[in-house]
Amino acid sequence: MRGIEVLFLAAVGAMAQPALPPGYVGSEACQACHQDIYDAFQKSPHNAPAADKKYGFTGAACESCHGPAQKHTDSPSAETISNPGKLPAAAADKVCLTCHLNQHTQVGRLESSHMKDQVSCTSCHKVHANGGHDLVLRKASAINNQCASCHLNVWAQFQRPNHHKLPEGAMSCVDCHNPHGTIRPAMTQSFAASEPGCFNCHGDKRGPFTFEHAAVKFEGCGACHEPHGSANPRMLTRQEVRLVCLECHANLPNPVSTNSALGVVPPSFHDLRSPRFQNCTVCHQKIHGSYVDRNLLR
Ligand code: HEC
Ligand code: HEC
Ligand code: HEC
Ligand code: HEC
Ligand code: HEC
Ligand code: HEC
Ligand code: HEC
Ligand code: HEC
Ligand code: HEC
Ligand code: HEC
Repeated sequence: MRGIEVLFLAAVGAMAQPALPPGYVGSEACQACHQDIYDAFQKSPHNAPAADKKYGFTGAACESCHGPAQKHTDSPSAETISNPGKLPAAAADKVCLTCHLNQHTQVGRLESSHMKDQVSCTSCHKVHANGGHDLVLRKASAINNQCASCHLNVWAQFQRPNHHKLPEGAMSCVDCHNPHGTIRPAMTQSFAASEPGCFNCHGDKRGPFTFEHAAVKFEGCGACHEPHGSANPRMLTRQEVRLVCLECHANLPNPVSTNSALGVVPPSFHDLRSPRFQNCTVCHQKIHGSYVDRNLLR
């Protein structure tokens, strides 16, 4: 069976051979010395360029990443061939982006922190791992482990009592972040330039509401929530709801808040010392925006 397969591939290679530029030898040449990698590679998505003329590597998929290999096959050693896994990050990325630059998930790549801090494509994508099957991680827990291996402090935030269920494997970092970068701060997912990935799951908070809460609309969810996890109920930034509100709605002569979007001071009938007025969202139930009441009461 394998013999027939190899013969067939060799035939395809032979037909394609004339199209190769000088210096390229074609993938069959690698087989003799790198049998395991060669065999496993036949099922890898990266074998596709071998059969598709538009990439210009017909019959020479290996060399689409490792470069022309004539020198290497003439005098085989690690020094005579390029290995993207050993190149500086920028050079390795250039190899990959030859083909991937125009994918929509890569639009933010050049400006991303990962790009700026030398986190190369090959730190997250292992081309030959498990014969190419683990080229891209799709299981939530596997992705989280990979991200957590560098972002230990962020992973610690998910161990707080109230958190999105990443440690449980029900969600992953890429539900909210695009590891390739986006046009939004902190590489958060963007489905439109102005909205965070949160709405993908929390659509009821999207609006547009007749009466917006300016904090939600202009400051975003992070004004009141810690999206990774928090010791406080509802992942709020503060222990008590009222302390979150008073950061912007304080009736203080000299506001201690440094928050940019200061809200109006609650009307005087609010006796903030009385327990009745301390749980603001008992009355202001539609805190994320209301369709009927400008005071967000219902
Ligand atoms: C005649 C045998 C032979 C052939 C044919 C051959 N290689 Fe190699 N290759 C070697 C040897 C020997 C090494 C060095 C191994 C070592 O140092 O551990 C090597 C190493 C490599 C490395 C690793 C380089 C590094 O820096 O770690 C890559 C990548 C590679 N070969 C790719 C290819 C590709 C692609 C082809 C086909 C175009 C090919 N080889 C054909 C013998 C060969
Ligand atoms: C999509 C780009 C790409 C293609 C196509 C590709 N390689 Fe690689 N290769 C890499 C990268 C990146 C590494 C470094 C290790 C890693 O990240 O998996 C590597 C490493 C190697 C090594 C060093 C040993 C190792 O496992 O680290 C050899 C040998 C090798 N490749 C041979 C081949 C052969 C033979 C082919 C074709 C059958 C091929 N490669 C196709 C990107 C590629
Ligand atoms: C010669 C063109 C070419 C080069 C160079 C190349 N790729 Fe690809 N890559 C492809 C094609 C074609 C596919 C298959 C696309 C598909 O199935 O939609 C692919 C698929 C992928 C996938 C997704 C696999 C999946 O299951 O969805 C990843 C991840 C990937 N490549 C990473 C890399 C990395 C990392 C490098 C550099 C080491 C690289 N590519 C270099 C052409 C290339
Ligand atoms: C910090 C880790 C990381 C880096 C760096 C990274 N990727 Fe990815 N990549 C991922 C993860 C995780 C996924 C799976 C995303 C998902 O399932 O939504 C992915 C998915 C992909 C895919 C499949 C299509 C898609 O977008 O889902 C391609 C192709 C790809 N990456 C190519 C690249 C290339 C090319 C580079 C370098 C320019 C790169 N990646 C850098 C982690 C990374
Ligand atoms: C190889 C180490 C490494 C891996 C793996 C890694 N990162 Fe990073 N990440 C970094 C470095 C370095 C920075 C830049 C310094 C910083 O902000 O911490 C960074 C920055 C970030 C930022 C901050 C962006 C900003 O502009 O503030 C986010 C978000 C991020 N990474 C998400 C992820 C996600 C999601 C994954 C998994 C898919 C991941 N990282 C995997 C090293 C890594
Ligand atoms: C529920 C959505 C969500 C999930 C899941 C998520 N993040 Fe974030 N992350 C955010 C938001 C929103 C910000 C921006 C916070 C801000 O600007 O105050 C952020 C900021 C960051 C930053 C930069 C600021 C910092 O705290 O260092 C890094 C790095 C980061 N996230 C990494 C990760 C990693 C790694 C994972 C997975 C373990 C992850 N995030 C999962 C929403 C999320
Ligand atoms: C992939 C889906 C998904 C995304 C994206 C997402 N969430 Fe969530 N979120 C959930 C689920 C599911 C729950 C409730 C179940 C749980 O405890 O995990 C939840 C719960 C919450 C809670 C309430 C926690 C509690 O203790 O009641 C807050 C607040 C929250 N999310 C804010 C955010 C913010 C802010 C973002 C964007 C930065 C975001 N979420 C993105 C799925 C998501
Ligand atoms: C002005 C502060 C503030 C902002 C900004 C804010 N929230 Fe909230 N959110 C709260 C408060 C307070 C609660 C708790 C309500 C309660 O205790 O009844 C809450 C509760 C939640 C809950 C759990 C209960 C529910 O209503 O589903 C989710 C989910 C949530 N917020 C998501 C978001 C998302 C997504 C954003 C961004 C679009 C956001 N929040 C922005 C204050 C805010
Ligand atoms: C990040 C700052 C910020 C936080 C935190 C915040 N708000 Fe606001 N809030 C605003 C701003 C700004 C307005 C718009 C004020 C205006 O129209 O002048 C507003 C408007 C309101 C209004 C409607 C008033 C009107 O006339 O439009 C109510 C009611 C309100 N907030 C209650 C709350 C409650 C309750 C909390 C706590 C759960 C809270 N806010 C947290 C900034 C904030
Ligand atoms: C017992 C119910 C109740 C509680 C608890 C409550 N409020 Fe109110 N609040 C109201 C009502 C009713 C109005 C509308 C008054 C009116 O129509 O003029 C209002 C109005 C407001 C306004 C709008 C002021 C304006 O000029 O438009 C703000 C801001 C506000 N409340 C903040 C808060 C904050 C912050 C808390 C928690 C510390 C809180 N409220 C607790 C009932 C309540």
